[in-house]
Amino acid sequence: MNHDRYSFHDLHPAAESFLEEVIAGLSRPRKELSPKYFYDARGCELFDAICELPEYYPTRTEMAMMQAHAAEMARHLGPGSVLIEYGSGNSRKTHALIAALGPIAYVPVDIAGGQLKTSAARLAAAFPGLGVVAVCADYSRLLKLPEIDNISARRRVIYFPGSTIGNFTVSEALEFLGYARALAGAGGAMLIGVDLKKDHALLNAAYNDARGVTAEFNLNLLCRINRELGADFDLAGFRHHAFYDAAVGRIEMHLQSLREQQVAIGGQAFRFSDGETIHTENSYKYSTDEFRQLARQAGFDASHCWVDPQQLFSVHYLAVPR
Ligand code: AVI
Repeated sequence: MNHDRYSFHDLHPAAESFLEEVIAGLSRPRKELSPKYFYDARGCELFDAICELPEYYPTRTEMAMMQAHAAEMARHLGPGSVLIEYGSGNSRKTHALIAALGPIAYVPVDIAGGQLKTSAARLAAAFPGLGVVAVCADYSRLLKLPEIDNISARRRVIYFPGSTIGNFTVSEALEFLGYARALAGAGGAMLIGVDLKKDHALLNAAYNDARGVTAEFNLNLLCRINRELGADFDLAGFRHHAFYDAAVGRIEMHLQSLREQQVAIGGQAFRFSDGETIHTENSYKYSTDEFRQLARQAGFDASHCWVDPQQLFSVHYLAVPR
């Protein structure tokens, strides 16, 4: 591969699948929408703002861990790797890792094409010797990546920071890890950020910030459906509702209807009773042992894990056996 080039591939799912998924999700007895649709341009801005909030500890904690342990992580990953990042977003956490690891190529994969283009180009400029292959795609079931077979790396390493694995149910996470293991291939590896179980008040505060940014992020999904699918959600008719369910170990985010109402989308009408919710996101929290067990079930060797001093967040190194 030519090491100083930058390319962009758009494998973005078609707009019809957004409409189909919204209609299917709102037709269920318990209405739901996929959190992957949070990330339009405004959603990306709001998520970046969430990451700066005093209550939202995961980003700054993981960032500090990456800065403190990048060299040690790079030693586990080894030289001559191609670094594939899932859900790369603004790629802020990746700088320290790339600087320490010196991969032969960087392949950021994200569903939000606009932000991906900007951040991948910024990264390519910051590391002039690095080949950057940006791929706009849904990474949850990815088995092939463009150009990857032309990159003769010693090892494929998948970096998945941010505890986005928590946005999958446990069975989806297991399935996703299976796909990731297959894409990394024998001898490959994964470095994955996972939010830990902790004090419930801290968890609840992280998803109910005082400034209401998380509420705006959640409600922006309805704004996006109105704009892109011609729906007529009244945003003032819904409120953000998020809580930690200790029995299942997850934060649930919902949009709750404040009255009885009807919404039109794609020629169909959806009725909401007063208090009825649309489940928009799960954010699972795992103890280090629970996550190791899940990774082993998916066929990885879960050999090393870093935890911050306050025990808020973990980063696991997972290896695919040869
Ligand atoms: C992207 N993901 C890991 C975030 C989380 O914490 O589950 C999304 C988020 N939702 C509300 N705040 C942040």
